[in-house]
Amino acid sequence: MTVLDKQAPHSNWIIEDQDDIPSSPVSGDNFFDVVERRINRRGFLKNITSLAATAALPVSIPSFASERKASGLSFTEIAHGQDDHVHVPEGYVADVLIRWGDPIFADSPVFDIQNLTAAAQEKQFGYNNDFVGFLPLPLNSTNSDHGLLAVNHEYTLPKLMHSGSPKNGALTQSQVDIDIAAHGMSIVEVKRSDNKWTVIRDSKYNRRITPKTPMQFYGAAAGNDRLKTAMFADGIATGGTFGNCAGGVTPWGTVLTGEENIQGYFLGDSQNAKEAENHKRFGLDGKARYIWGKYYDQWNIDKNPAAALHGGWIVEIDPYDPTSTPKKRTSLGRLKHEGCNVHINTDGRVVAYTGDDQRFEYVYKFVSEQKYNPDNRAANMDILDKGTLSVANFQDDGSLTWHPLTYGENSLDQSNGFHSQADIMLDARKAADIVGATQMDRPEDVEVNPVNGNVYIMLTNNSKRRVDQINAANPRAKNKSGQIIEMIPPNGDHAAETFTWEMLLIAGNPETEAGKYHDNISPNGWLADPDNCAFDNRGNLWIATDGAYKDGFADGVWVCPIDGDERALTQHFLRTPHQAELCGPCFTPDNKTFFCAVQHPGEKGTFDKPTTRWPDFNDNMPPRPSLLTVTKKDGGVIGS
Ligand code: FEO
Ligand code: CA
Ligand code: CA
Ligand code: CA
Repeated sequence: MTVLDKQAPHSNWIIEDQDDIPSSPVSGDNFFDVVERRINRRGFLKNITSLAATAALPVSIPSFASERKASGLSFTEIAHGQDDHVHVPEGYVADVLIRWGDPIFADSPVFDIQNLTAAAQEKQFGYNNDFVGFLPLPLNSTNSDHGLLAVNHEYTLPKLMHSGSPKNGALTQSQVDIDIAAHGMSIVEVKRSDNKWTVIRDSKYNRRITPKTPMQFYGAAAGNDRLKTAMFADGIATGGTFGNCAGGVTPWGTVLTGEENIQGYFLGDSQNAKEAENHKRFGLDGKARYIWGKYYDQWNIDKNPAAALHGGWIVEIDPYDPTSTPKKRTSLGRLKHEGCNVHINTDGRVVAYTGDDQRFEYVYKFVSEQKYNPDNRAANMDILDKGTLSVANFQDDGSLTWHPLTYGENSLDQSNGFHSQADIMLDARKAADIVGATQMDRPEDVEVNPVNGNVYIMLTNNSKRRVDQINAANPRAKNKSGQIIEMIPPNGDHAAETFTWEMLLIAGNPETEAGKYHDNISPNGWLADPDNCAFDNRGNLWIATDGAYKDGFADGVWVCPIDGDERALTQHFLRTPHQAELCGPCFTPDNKTFFCAVQHPGEKGTFDKPTTRWPDFNDNMPPRPSLLTVTKKDGGVIGS
């Protein structure tokens, strides 16, 4: 979801957390002077990693030919631009696989834009697809021709969904019911034949998960009194999931989905509720963008004071069992989770990385107590319940310390209002404040590169950072375009308490805003606002963006090698129709299909005055968020 500057068309309906944003005015220092100062200070980082790079670059580029690994990238990059269409390089095809409203069950009603109903929407693909995960069929295989797609539906745009272009606050109860049903997730079985994909509508796996799907809390905060509400009295049962942004697929074949901007869904007096302090730190002011709480107590904090604590979690779902009850993993903390990505550590423990996507928020890491068992799926199914959550502190010398958020340590005790580990998980942001985590420029995806084992953070932007708040990891004031940080675990040990880090690239225009990439960047190779990412089997980083419109071109996908002498040489691979963000990049195991999600196409328009009608181009149909398959015409590996 676009959540940033004043110029964002929908910023007024995202409730931003202001309490953590310093209020003093930005000083008059010259922006570029400051950036250069930071960059020059980073010269000594090269010593830490023994990489040779020019002192003027914050980007560490190995100069040793022997280090070069073949990226396998040889496509002809596309141009910056924006129009009504998806663009991919010559030799590639982007097809729409499934759109908002498309039927996903044998008995789903045909999509009827003039007669939407909640009952129909519950059997149709939801709105604003975000995360996409591919899970091969059968389970435990690496089949690339057949599998399940798990797709998040992050939020809705009623003005683009309903005839009459209603404002959110004016929705009738039946429209709210449609709205609720359009959120959550879809799980659909898909098959590839002759390089083309189809959705299997009568699959036993197909499922809609919505904000009303029964779920249960697991882990440190499950059953805690603070989670007990009038509706959910035991603190274990909970309603469904919403605000689902990015996510990840685990090695044991489950999906993790991040509940991100949940604060916009709760109506009521947030100050008087017993969780006033928590609400404030979460940016929840009770002036919901969505008015679900007008009709349903689940989203009304006057009637259900603990209601908001039921959102902001990582939810784990077993897509291979459509009858399974999704589990909210409280040991991963409550925050605005962009997503969550799991890595099996060298010692067998499970490490999960997650970013809190808001200005000045943090990067977190969870390390499980138990070891992953590759031979016993059942033994892994609750492995995310026990372990240690920690939060990152990035030092300017290129070191990185993970501070554990453990009850009784680092003043995380009664002196600060914590009475248990459950309190720490419920107030994870507050705990992270106390241990001195580094306030970042909106951490979105945090993913491990399967080839080199390093971890990459997409930092999307932070227009509010002042000059006196910059540091080596967040080196620009009024950061319009974001950066990508590489975290390096020592000897591949992700459980270690100290890592080192490098700046992979600084996004934005290299001419006018100190964007830093490989020296050979083309005029189309620079990008802005990195958000989601994926790695191919060669370890190349595929970056999806959310916010390039500020620079006058469409969002899309850029890819770069990480290792070798083309490190940080980004090239433009795909571009969305205008006013869309590109989400959920993911590959089949053979890397011959690239899935991605076009979110909020034509978001500046309305149903009655659309700015595009992609992808249908039918005069009766508004633009529809849709999932794409990208293949190479010759059936080859994507990027080759
Ligand atoms: Fe929903 Fe962090 O973007
Ligand atoms: Ca975003
Ligand atoms: Ca995102
Ligand atoms: Ca991803």
